[in-house]
Amino acid sequence: MEPVFDFKGRDVINGYDFTNQELCHIMDTAMIYEKRVKSGEAIKDLEGMLVATLFFEPSTRTRLSFNSAIQRVGASTIDLGNASVSSQAKGETWQDTLRTVDGYVDAIVMRHPEAGSAIEAADIAVHPLINGGDGSRQHPTQALLDIYTIRKETGHLGGQTITFLGDLKYGRTVHSLGYFMQQFGNKMIFASPEELKMPEEITKELRDKGAEIEETTDVKDALSRSDIVYVTRVQRERFPDQASYEAVKGSYILDNELLSYAKKGITIMHPLPRVDEIAVEVDSYEGAAYFRQAHNGMYLRMALLGLVTGRI
Ligand code: CP
Repeated sequence: MEPVFDFKGRDVINGYDFTNQELCHIMDTAMIYEKRVKSGEAIKDLEGMLVATLFFEPSTRTRLSFNSAIQRVGASTIDLGNASVSSQAKGETWQDTLRTVDGYVDAIVMRHPEAGSAIEAADIAVHPLINGGDGSRQHPTQALLDIYTIRKETGHLGGQTITFLGDLKYGRTVHSLGYFMQQFGNKMIFASPEELKMPEEITKELRDKGAEIEETTDVKDALSRSDIVYVTRVQRERFPDQASYEAVKGSYILDNELLSYAKKGITIMHPLPRVDEIAVEVDSYEGAAYFRQAHNGMYLRMALLGLVTGRI
């Protein structure tokens, strides 16, 4: 019997809130949306609905792909804009802003620099709350589009080796994706400078759940054994001071020379934006999937919106 899924009214807060069957259903739904968009269909699944995007921290991909997704499924969108054009400038708390906007719309996408803000926001909002990134904690919709990308690029999901390279301490995308990789039985290699290691509580939790994890500073060896490398930016904005950032910035740069040590056919991913951690010369390598990955975000977010509003 086909499993029945009920996503209506659900919040999307963490990268570990979904079963594998649910994750496959979300990806299958995204795939259908991708086909419908590419066929030129004017989709009206969420006609009459209104979705708010509240970004209290800068974003290009998450904000614009959600705004595109909202309009692509036939809904309308309102965007808070930056702090200078909202009552943030008058000192209103984000909680009061959220409470207010919740009364206007059918679903909310929110990004906030404070770790844990998404959990608090989901408690406040009556309507489905989708976490667009809460500080260095979680970025679940990024992890969803990441697994959608892995499945599309490699043809499967599971039994692969993935190296997470770069800032694993503050990189919320790898914090969310790690859980999905564990759920699908992928081996993980964490390659980072000592100062930017994956937080111990996450590594422990993943290992307790049965994940096979190696931690290393030997990037060439990690790449030689990996099917996928997931590069992250060293995030200046998360460091306590400029000196700590300067000490580790540019630690690992994936250029053609380093790529020559990688396993043949390796898929290269990055949540973007990049600064200098992947050299532009690598963009022409056929396994460089990061811009396709960013494009996949729109289809995945269309699927999430359709599912949490109960329209599909
Ligand atoms: N990947 C990602 O979250 O990008 P933005 O910060 O541009 O949204």
